[in-house]
Amino acid sequence: MAHSRPVLRSRAAVRIERAPFFRGVFTLPGDKSISHRAALLGAMALGETRVRNYSTAADCASTLACLRGLGVETRGDGTTVRISGDGLEAWRPPSAVLDAGNSGSTIRMLAGALAGRPFRSVLTGDESLRRRPVERVAAPLRAMGATVTTTDGRPPLTVEGGRLLGLAHDLPVASAQVKTAILLAGLQAAGETTVREPGPSRDHTERMLPAFGVPVERRGLAVTVRGGARLRGTEVVVPGDASSAAFLVVAALVLPDSEVRLDGVLLSPTRTAFVEVLQAMGGRVEARLEAEQPEPVGSILASSSTLRGTTVDPALVPCLIDEVPALAVAAAFAQSPFTVTGAAELRVKESDRIAAMAEGLAALGARVRERPDGLEVEGGAPLRGARVRSHGDHRIAMALSVAALGAEGATEIQGAECVAVSFPGFYALVDRATGRA
Ligand code: S3P
Repeated sequence: MAHSRPVLRSRAAVRIERAPFFRGVFTLPGDKSISHRAALLGAMALGETRVRNYSTAADCASTLACLRGLGVETRGDGTTVRISGDGLEAWRPPSAVLDAGNSGSTIRMLAGALAGRPFRSVLTGDESLRRRPVERVAAPLRAMGATVTTTDGRPPLTVEGGRLLGLAHDLPVASAQVKTAILLAGLQAAGETTVREPGPSRDHTERMLPAFGVPVERRGLAVTVRGGARLRGTEVVVPGDASSAAFLVVAALVLPDSEVRLDGVLLSPTRTAFVEVLQAMGGRVEARLEAEQPEPVGSILASSSTLRGTTVDPALVPCLIDEVPALAVAAAFAQSPFTVTGAAELRVKESDRIAAMAEGLAALGARVRERPDGLEVEGGAPLRGARVRSHGDHRIAMALSVAALGAEGATEIQGAECVAVSFPGFYALVDRATGRA
């Protein structure tokens, strides 16, 4: 069996051969979701905000670039980012279109903050982002009083902000981005704003606002903020990215002689439901909590395991939505069938992740069936190398790369450069963990 290192054959394709093991102790770049929020709240606050371990993801650079387009000063020194802290009143009408790149979080959450600003902004993104729905954020912001137009429900999106009225809004689908957008508008609105979700989604905004001096009321699945709040700059230390961790955990479970420990990882229950699912599959994976505030943080340990399939409880899906591609890979190495449903949102992520995973895993020899809102993976079929496509989606590229590490022969991942959207160091880490660097 050949054990050559993943090679960047061109800017776009990575060749991966079966790995003998996946081992090591790693700390991961800062969590992408928390980094976006720290930058946005810092830009809204009075007084400097210092963000340590700011994500290295291209998406989080897009958030900073958009904020600079609004006149916010940001200074980066390694992974420490300082945000000037002149407050929302200092935001200026952008002289150019704000480009959120590939980042749905940036375009949706920033639209919420802009809804209260008395000027017109145009927000757009790359080809993938311009295919994604933004009406879900436009509609509640309009109901609060902002003038928001979309392009057939997609970006480019124009936000003309102004005086807002508080809103009580029931989200039809749990979405942390939409929830955050409404709350950021609500902070600038008259009266109270309440967002109610059908199920829990990541709660980083609710947890971070009090650190900026803003009270948040949480009752069950409802979150309430009051308008007129003044945010005060603060220091945010960003834990390791929980979603990036999922790919490394799955690699350790499915490869032989493997063991990883990931330190300083975000262990928010709104992000670690994938650990529960992998445990239900017989995975030897454990999360060790070390601190609870402001976000749960600790280590994740995982080692080689014999996996079985499972049926994922649809109620868990919002708390593992970004980890479904990694779970589907674990399922391809399991000995019995795996089903996930209630995940129709995956069809409107950076790619149609249901179709992209079904295509990629099938090309590698797995027996996979698409469901309108999920995937069935039969398990038990040995994987063999093939040429597969990332569809320009970072999580698809990383998921298929992990599958490739356990597949016989060589796999070519086309369009693998997109891993930089969330995890630029992914292939370097894979090299180290597989003894190739
Ligand atoms: C995110 C929320 C989720 C997730 C995305 C990041 C966030 O999207 O898929 O990668 O940071 O709030 P939705 O809000 O569309 O569920």
